[in-house]
Amino acid sequence: MKIYAHRGYSGRYPENTLAAFKAAARLPIHGVELDVHVTADQELVVIHDEAINRTSSGRGLVKDMTLQQLRAFDYGAWFHEDFAGEVIPTLAQVLDVFSGTPHQVNIELKSDVFVYAGLEQLVLREVEAHKMTERVVISSFDHEAVQRVGMLAPHVENAALFSTIVLDVAEYVKSIPAKAIHVSYHYALRKPVREAINAGCVIRVYTVNTLQRLNILREIGVDAIFTDEPEKMLSE
Ligand code: G3P
Ligand code: MG
Repeated sequence: MKIYAHRGYSGRYPENTLAAFKAAARLPIHGVELDVHVTADQELVVIHDEAINRTSSGRGLVKDMTLQQLRAFDYGAWFHEDFAGEVIPTLAQVLDVFSGTPHQVNIELKSDVFVYAGLEQLVLREVEAHKMTERVVISSFDHEAVQRVGMLAPHVENAALFSTIVLDVAEYVKSIPAKAIHVSYHYALRKPVREAINAGCVIRVYTVNTLQRLNILREIGVDAIFTDEPEKMLSE
């Protein structure tokens, strides 16, 4: 089973920070997952929520602030005082962490709430600048974005994220088209996803933090999991 560290090593380090990505980069895992938004001055930043409130000392929406304004806040102390001083990373900084490692990087485009015009082009340009087109998976709950990635860069791996049930998953992803399917643990156990696995679809599952669930997913033929606890998942 392939293991991706979800938002970096987010079980032990503040999610989506360089500390979390450097810790993941030291592990013999398949890859890492991260979330991308766009700032008011068109910079790509790595953070999960549209707002910085939950994971920083500041308040407000990423889309309304410049990179410089976002960097005025602390993104580590909310998790633990040991990580005080972490700043919001750019996508370029995170790709730099993995430029010399064998890891795959799953870039999740967080355009499912706000539309970030040109997000796909900006991300693809950054990935190409890092010569990492062979090592990324670009995914989103926003299937328009997944489709645009496929049109702009057919050779790059794209994936459709699902939070609800689609009856014929395999047919649906063919229509986007997307190369893989990312689903929640509970959805992975349902008939439509089992049928997609039988039809040869690549399925990756978020967010799996117990060995019991890892083993169940291995049994049914899932390709990879996203986990906050990559070291625990490696022990199996
Ligand atoms: O990409 C897998 C997973 O990260 C999707 O959900 O909310 O953690 O970004 P979320
Ligand atoms: Mg994500």
